[in-house]
Amino acid sequence: MTRRPLISGNWKMNLNHYEAIQTVQKLSYLVPKETLETVDVSIHPPFTDIRSIQTVIESEDFDFHLGAQHCHWEESGAFTGEVSPAFLAKLNVVYVIVGHSERREIFGETDEMVNRKVAAIQAHGMVPIMCCGETLAEREAGETESKVLGQIETGLAGRTNDQIASLVIAYEPIWAIGTGKTATSDDAQAVCAAIRSKVRELTDEATADAVRIQYGGSVKAANATELMSQSDIDGALVGGASLDPDEFAKIVQFDT
Ligand code: 13P
Repeated sequence: MTRRPLISGNWKMNLNHYEAIQTVQKLSYLVPKETLETVDVSIHPPFTDIRSIQTVIESEDFDFHLGAQHCHWEESGAFTGEVSPAFLAKLNVVYVIVGHSERREIFGETDEMVNRKVAAIQAHGMVPIMCCGETLAEREAGETESKVLGQIETGLAGRTNDQIASLVIAYEPIWAIGTGKTATSDDAQAVCAAIRSKVRELTDEATADAVRIQYGGSVKAANATELMSQSDIDGALVGGASLDPDEFAKIVQFDT
């Protein structure tokens, strides 16, 4: 099965709404329309930028998908500071990152919370990008697969095969995020293949074939082509390099 590549720019807590508008407009000049016929691109700005970016994308008819970095699982209520998945859906958000390692490590998100969020995002018709990944200590202790596959199993618990087929999994080794260190393409491929096997074990062949798996961690124009050529890597979740429209546009055009 050919899976449509998905390149996502996670801006993290960078770019205010003025800067965000400029960045998306610049990106639209740099990415040829033909590229977007074969590659999905999502932009994940901070919450305060989302409405502005929605307006730009829709009024100028850009073929970028709007994304968010996080949300709560409840629809509404006494959750000071949180954002409802219903509010994101109302802004035509398509993809929502869930369980990013920074959310897990800094803000204490657990696999169970990730599981509830995945369900809530899908209940509102959006696509979760569910992150997983190991620390350097876990990698050195030979625990990469047990950590990552455990996150996958708990994160996907209770989802139907169709729901799993339509979501995105992002493998982001924590030691490679923002460090300039990238997993070798062989290492990244091996973990992404293990994730797909796990999905096969939890569901069936067709579901494992359909689910898209991204790699994230110091992806740049210089390594995107090699990473994207791996058979189980269907996309990239890009942090730092997505803040620079020139660099991100090159990543999006990884196969030209
Ligand atoms: P960097 O590309 O800056 O390493 O960040 C990766 C990441 O965390 C994307 O979600």
